[in-house]
Amino acid sequence: MMGSRVEVPDREPPRDARGEAARVLVIDDEPIIREVLHDILTREGYFITLAPDAETGLRSLEQQEYDLIILDLMLPGLGGFEALKEIKRRDPDSVVVMITAYGSIESAVQGMRMGAHDYLTKPFKNEDVLRTLSTGLRHRRLLDENRSLRRALEGRARTGELVGRSPSMLELHRLIEQVAPSRSTVLIQGESGTGKELVAQAIHRMSGRPPDAFVVVNSGSMPADLLESNLFGHVKGAFTGAIQSKKGLFEVANGGSIFFDEISTVKSEVQAKLLRVIQEKEFLALGAVQSVQVDVRIIAATNIDLQELVMRGEFREDLYYRLNVINIKLPPLRERKEDVPLLADHFIAKYAAENRKPVHGVTPEALALLVEHTWQGNVRELENVIERAVVLSSSPVIGLELLPEALQGDRPRPLPGPIPMDGTLSFYETMERLEREIILKTLKSVNGVQRRAAARLGLNPTTLNEKIKRLKIQYR
Ligand SMILES: Nc1ncnc2c1ncn2[C@@H]1O[C@H](COP(=O)(O)OP(=O)(O)OP(=O)(O)O)[C@@H](O)[C@H]1O
Ligand SMILES: [Mg+2]
Repeated sequence: MMGSRVEVPDREPPRDARGEAARVLVIDDEPIIREVLHDILTREGYFITLAPDAETGLRSLEQQEYDLIILDLMLPGLGGFEALKEIKRRDPDSVVVMITAYGSIESAVQGMRMGAHDYLTKPFKNEDVLRTLSTGLRHRRLLDENRSLRRALEGRARTGELVGRSPSMLELHRLIEQVAPSRSTVLIQGESGTGKELVAQAIHRMSGRPPDAFVVVNSGSMPADLLESNLFGHVKGAFTGAIQSKKGLFEVANGGSIFFDEISTVKSEVQAKLLRVIQEKEFLALGAVQSVQVDVRIIAATNIDLQELVMRGEFREDLYYRLNVINIKLPPLRERKEDVPLLADHFIAKYAAENRKPVHGVTPEALALLVEHTWQGNVRELENVIERAVVLSSSPVIGLELLPEALQGDRPRPLPGPIPMDGTLSFYETMERLEREIILKTLKSVNGVQRRAAARLGLNPTTLNEKIKRLKIQYR
């Protein structure tokens, strides 16, 4: 009976915010109640899934999003309140309707305090069920609409915005505001992926210069003469093949800003000419006799220590000092871990909107892992990890399983000793540790032969092997 669809509803079926038939998950251990609810609700046009216990229900929630959850509070195994807590933890916007026994108003009140939307008292009338669900669904649609509205607004306000509330990021915001309006050159230093280009854009945006007049120069491995002609342009006939004159990037950026990405790669011939533009505020196009006056704000970035290059004689000292009037150092992400949750949220919103997926958060376990990771690739690496997880996710909240193996590697190993079962660890962490212990002990009893361990445990060998990999169990 799982997930059976309505044949022909008498009325317009209840719809979710996207206009699809509303989905209801019923978690109840009594077959008769499941059957009754299934009949009433399918007849009305709901798309319904039945679960006989909390564990099954939670698994269904991992597979898809439900508009409404009907939850019996008296459940075997993981109880109703535990289940409610877990459901709300995974998605605070879940709309849960509890089923309580007649006369147990206290538990209904407790459930409402824990975030349930409403409750039904057994025995219930069909109309009560339908009315309660219809109110719940309206509430759910509102939440959904609010969420997408909020996201659209945030998306707009945040394009190109530097996310971060750590002391170093707050300091950065202050510094940008302060230096943006001036003409001084800025040197931005930071590891790859720390946001140097974003900072350069922010400086330009707040400089009061025309928004479009922002030119990025990526000199990379460009030969000196090509870079020179790109930067300063040339006149017709300046060299063989120069059949037309061409404007250089300095002229294109006139009135605005020019951003030298990875300034350290600029060859020494060009370094001399750059110095001249900075000092004289004018330059000579290739083959020209008349110099051109420009007003261009120069911003440069590097991810290597420029001062060291100067000491080694690979970068002009005078240019270094000219560029380094204002110095901005971007700290690596691992030194401002407190920004990870904000950044993760920011990228989830970005990629959820881009991929039209209802993903809106990460589980506490996944977040802990993200915060603890060392992020050699800094914010860019975090962005890539989140994009991948959002694309692969089939539930509204990103769990551990969607994070790359490499990240799972730095998860601290569980401490030896008895597994606490008093809620010190979450339900799933406890289960993982139990699984690990069962597998390790069985492997030991069969001298590490996986096939035999699988047979003893009554598991498919492939399943056991997957578990061993997922839990990173090493048996020697
Ligand atoms: N503070 C931040 N808030 C939001 N997004 C950020 C932040 N910092 C970096 N990003 C994002 O991370 C990615 C990498 O940033 P950016 O390209 O500015 O880094 P970079 O320092 O120039 O790296 P590289 O040295 O490799 O060129 C971009 O997609 C950028 O939008
Ligand atoms: Mg860059």
